[in-house]
Amino acid sequence: MDKLIIEGGRRLIGRVRVSGSKNAALSILVATLLVKGKTRLYNLPRIGDVLTMLEMLKRLGVKVNLEEEFAEIDATEIESYEAPYELVKKMRASFNVLGAILVRCGRARVPLPGGCDIGTRPVDFHLKGLQAMGAEIRMEHGYIEAYTDKLRGADIYLDFPSVGATCHLATAASLAEGTTYIRNAAEEPEIHDLFNFLNQAGADIKYIDSRVIEIQGVEKLRETSYEIMPDRMEAGTFMIAAAATEGDVLIEGIDPVYLKPVIEKLRETGCEVLEMENAVRVIGKRPIKPVNIVTLPHPGFPTDMQQPFTALLTIADGTSMVTETIYDSRFKYLSELARMGADVKVEGRTAVIKGVKELTGAPVVISDLRAGAALIIAALMARGVSEITGLENVDRGYENLEGKLASLGASIKRVSEESRECLV
Ligand code: EPZ
Repeated sequence: MDKLIIEGGRRLIGRVRVSGSKNAALSILVATLLVKGKTRLYNLPRIGDVLTMLEMLKRLGVKVNLEEEFAEIDATEIESYEAPYELVKKMRASFNVLGAILVRCGRARVPLPGGCDIGTRPVDFHLKGLQAMGAEIRMEHGYIEAYTDKLRGADIYLDFPSVGATCHLATAASLAEGTTYIRNAAEEPEIHDLFNFLNQAGADIKYIDSRVIEIQGVEKLRETSYEIMPDRMEAGTFMIAAAATEGDVLIEGIDPVYLKPVIEKLRETGCEVLEMENAVRVIGKRPIKPVNIVTLPHPGFPTDMQQPFTALLTIADGTSMVTETIYDSRFKYLSELARMGADVKVEGRTAVIKGVKELTGAPVVISDLRAGAALIIAALMARGVSEITGLENVDRGYENLEGKLASLGASIKRVSEESRECLV
């Protein structure tokens, strides 16, 4: 595997265009299983998780044609109702094919996803919702076996506004018999993108109130083409990197409305943030003022931005408190930040970050996708050279991150892990 060599201290200057949204792409790719025909998707990000999901579709017998400009998914035939363990283990979002396979085949056998480095991440809300719609669910030997003649509309309440459960259940309900309600549902922009896709293919899904979704089941979905929305987490990552390096970066192809909490918190640190129609410009300032953050379901501060933002706060002019309410252990990366000189400690669900004068470059290991964003941002602002391994986690969710950062002036190189090369 490769590693990154980053020499910190360079200001990021210039413009960068974000790729398609990973999380919207994954739920839309699952939904293409419901179309007995071809779906053409544009702006599909070429990242690890998308390639894993495309592999999943192929293993189910779906035809996948990946062109430069688009991906064509032909789900006319589904030849298997079983999802391979090695793919679900690799990416938990692939568990969500369960409902779609069940709708198409009347039965499904999908391995339970494990936890990962940010928490246990059960799927009980998904299973409870499918049972409410009439699925018979059995769990044995680490697999979920599901059976149904036809899913029926149901009134489902989610104990927590789970993004995955909302997408999974709404997608399955789109071809159920009758009307389904999902209450206390998530309302992330990526879910709206999924619903836009499904409705364009003939579904009938809408939010009838904040966190209440009504789905009128339809007979079938039709072929369509769709452009995936931009990735707001990638955009947020570049915004924070600009602030961290006292840079001046124009992030293009993103509607600022998707990132209001991140924009407001960056302004609170003293950053200048200019909102445009389809772009955001971030001009970093010093000193960085400390801020307090609580992660919440949308429209609150997104948990996926907790890690990169915390990296920025390690050199704030004071103490910040960051509370993670979505996951039960999304602070493991703090020990790697501490190796770079950060003064951080965790008290319950809150990280206390005492600003230090500077970070220093160090060899660090990435444990999960957004921890990777945090450590790369920390290396960009640290004094000296950092060597970052565990890049497979970053490649899952960022398309050519090192190339985009280099184009903004970062001193960053991707080399093989064995390489003795360092930056010239
Ligand atoms: C989605 O994960 C995203 N992944 C995550 O992004 C994101 O952090 C998360 O939503 C929250 O916004 C994709 O969309 C592929 P949840 P998901 O179900 O659907 C608990 C990234 O970095 N829960 O909203 O798995 C769960 O344990 C990734 O791009 C249950 O208890 O998140 C967690 O604590 C990381 N039972 C909380 O809810 C369930 O049945 C939120 O999970 C389902 C979830």
